[in-house]
Amino acid sequence: MAFHEEELAEQESAYLQRLTAAETLAGAGEDERAVEAALRPRTLDEVVGQTRVREQLGLVLEAARQRGRTPDHVLLSGPPGLGKTTLAMIIAAEMGAPLRLTSGPAITHAGDLASILSGMNEGDVLFVDEIHRMSRPAEEMLYMAMEDFRVDVVIGKGPGATAIPLEIPPFTLVGATTRAGLLPGPLRDRFGFTGHLEFYEADELDLIVHRSAGLLGVELTDDGSAEIALRSRGTPRIANRLLRRVRDFAQVRADGVVTIDVARRALELYEVDELGLDRLDRSVIGALCRRFGGGPVGLSTLAVAVGEERETVEEVAEPFLVRNGFLARTPRGRVATPAAWAHLGLAAPPVAPGQESLFDGDA
Ligand SMILES: Nc1ncnc2c1ncn2[C@@H]1O[C@H](COP(=O)(O)OP(=O)(O)O)[C@@H](O)[C@H]1O
Ligand SMILES: [Mg+2]
Repeated sequence: MAFHEEELAEQESAYLQRLTAAETLAGAGEDERAVEAALRPRTLDEVVGQTRVREQLGLVLEAARQRGRTPDHVLLSGPPGLGKTTLAMIIAAEMGAPLRLTSGPAITHAGDLASILSGMNEGDVLFVDEIHRMSRPAEEMLYMAMEDFRVDVVIGKGPGATAIPLEIPPFTLVGATTRAGLLPGPLRDRFGFTGHLEFYEADELDLIVHRSAGLLGVELTDDGSAEIALRSRGTPRIANRLLRRVRDFAQVRADGVVTIDVARRALELYEVDELGLDRLDRSVIGALCRRFGGGPVGLSTLAVAVGEERETVEEVAEPFLVRNGFLARTPRGRVATPAAWAHLGLAAPPVAPGQESLFDGDA
């Protein structure tokens, strides 16, 4: 028993460290969180892009409102910074319901979850961030709570343990995950609606940059905004962060106005290239091409080569690199595409006979 608890505690601290590493890369320091809160859209109408998810979610909420019921449980999945937390907050706001926030790594014991659930009121929205990182026993308790609005709380240990049923008022669970594929089937199936957030188009990010500049009182030109949008890795959080860094540059090294020229100089200083790849992105494709001849190489080996956690490479860097055709995930490992070689200014090695099919894999 003691061993089990120790193991869980260890897991938690490992999870938290990884989370922090991933979040730092995704850009969530203390200050960043405060600014993010100020820039978050408050209603579905204010949300830019994600048209499909917005419409689907809008329907789920409207129908629940008309029936006077709590909405179905909602799962939001997608890479960091695309708006999962924002949408969770909007769901609560649109339902006029209080939001309770927690995260998978914070729930190491089923008891942690039981105590959260027992404090819920009818209609509350429970947001569980990083839901794929919850402990197994808590996960099992959550299935039951989602389906039957009831859980069994186990009191005591060993043969003398008793299960006390606990009724929970109807609530809406909103889960967020960067890895929908890691959720066990039974948990995934209990969500009535799953919204997959996609990377944003440059014109959508342009709108977001203009909106944020307005809120932060930053003066910027249309081409300055477009330049930031283009280099934001399809990610609103990054667009907002680059805007602030470019604003700093404009203030200190220019006359305060964010023009295209200021944006370019600032982004060069911050090592964000013309396609929006940052240091981590470049070091991943750089290692892949220079050290592993373009691959295929396993994720763990690649992560060690760039000095990052597996999760950081997989959840923060890869989705963008894959989506933009720089990296392919094949059954045999990660492979650099010709675009990656070209982007690094390197000549791609000739494709060996029998290797052409590497790029067909979508694993
Ligand atoms: N659709 C959107 N429209 C405008 N701003 C957005 C949108 N999605 C995200 N943002 C901005 O990006 C930041 C990060 O979003 P967040 O919801 O925290 O992402 P996630 O939880 O998916 O990591 C928010 O502070 C918000 O300002
Ligand atoms: Mg979030």
